Amino acid sequence: MKTQVGIIGAGPAGLFLAHLLKQQGVDSVILEARSYDYVLGRVRAGVLEAGTIDTMHNLGLGERMEREGLVDDGLDMRFRHRNIHLDLPGLTGRAVKIYGQQEVVKDLIDARLEAGDPLIFDAEVVRLEGLDGDTPKIHYRHEGVDKVLDCALVAGCDGFHGIARASVPAGVIETITKSYDFAWLGVLAKARPIADMTYTNHDNGFALCSRRSLEVSRLYLQVGANENPEDWSDARFWDELHTRMFDADKTEIAEGEIFQRDMARLRSYIAHPMQYGNLFLAGDAVHIVPPAGAKGLNMAVADVRVLARAMVAFFSTGARSGLDRYSDDCEARVYKTIRFSVYLTGLLHKFDDMSPFDRAMQFSELDFIAGSETAQRVIAEQYVALSDVSD
Ligand code: APR
Ligand code: PHB
Repeated sequence: MKTQVGIIGAGPAGLFLAHLLKQQGVDSVILEARSYDYVLGRVRAGVLEAGTIDTMHNLGLGERMEREGLVDDGLDMRFRHRNIHLDLPGLTGRAVKIYGQQEVVKDLIDARLEAGDPLIFDAEVVRLEGLDGDTPKIHYRHEGVDKVLDCALVAGCDGFHGIARASVPAGVIETITKSYDFAWLGVLAKARPIADMTYTNHDNGFALCSRRSLEVSRLYLQVGANENPEDWSDARFWDELHTRMFDADKTEIAEGEIFQRDMARLRSYIAHPMQYGNLFLAGDAVHIVPPAGAKGLNMAVADVRVLARAMVAFFSTGARSGLDRYSDDCEARVYKTIRFSVYLTGLLHKFDDMSPFDRAMQFSELDFIAGSETAQRVIAEQYVALSDVSD
């Protein structure tokens, strides 16, 4: 099989890239290791920044997002029985949209399949060849048969554990990382969500109340990095959430059937450069953010908006300048987004190695934010739009 761009991975990065390329007449093939059902079953975050929303509309894929997505114009942060309310439109003129990542992925996949464009599921890429030449080859296995995709450019959109970054010769890519000794236990519950996206920093640990609809809550608790989700009964989860949300009388947080559970380890990770020869890395394949800023999906979309523009210029004019600058054009934004996510993580979580002094300083910063519209605007501006790229 032959195409212009071989895309590894049908997550947000790979799917948005394929649609952006097609919009400009560039052909691609997406190779996805997992099945359609598996990919759609992966529950992730669900906060869309303006740039992501605009890209969905620009691709003509915004109809269900507008119909089913929820506008989120408030962001609350709680600590020691105080509540900081950030009025996102009042502070920034913008809001964000809540629309689950798997809904975004479903819209992109279904549109790709409906158009009859190549997206091959259960196709695991096993080797990349000739990345530093003009005719790279992607070796993959599909239905028990070893196959090869010939292409001019390769997009590594295969996530943190993918093969693309791992295929770059040793010493070419440097990585910096920061790990946390806790994780987020996430659930989906058939329970009426509270009014605003609410983060809390409690002496027991962090919690977050988000939502997917007016009937489904998306809830998270900070837990130990190696805890087993099955050790958290529904009753234990709800009791702990009421406690951390300072809802001791259980009048604010509505309980309901928990129908989905997942655990997410927290880490920050950046690989530099985001490219090698004719391989270009995007999304989780090249950076990971702790989820406190809800930036992972938005960063992936921002990366491929830059990459698509460079690839289209290459195929239409032969110019490589955009491709050669791709990493440099993305990295300042990537670092700013990771910094914000690390900052929010540090502000809102309870760290085991914190001294009483550290804890006092954490609460003092929250107290300052509570009393400063300027400090609130700094957080709000980064929350609503750090992944903006000028097209
Ligand atoms: N061959 C083919 N496909 C692969 C391979 C491989 N060798 N390795 C991984 N994949 C696929 C995975 O199955 C997955 O569907 O690549 C896809 C990568 O998708 P994501 O991990 O979602 O990464 P990305 O598209 O960058 O989106 C980042 O997704 O995981 C969330 O929190 C993350 O919000 C962020 C967003
Ligand atoms: C979510 O709705 O899944 C969500 C919201 C905010 C975050 C992370 C996840 O910071």
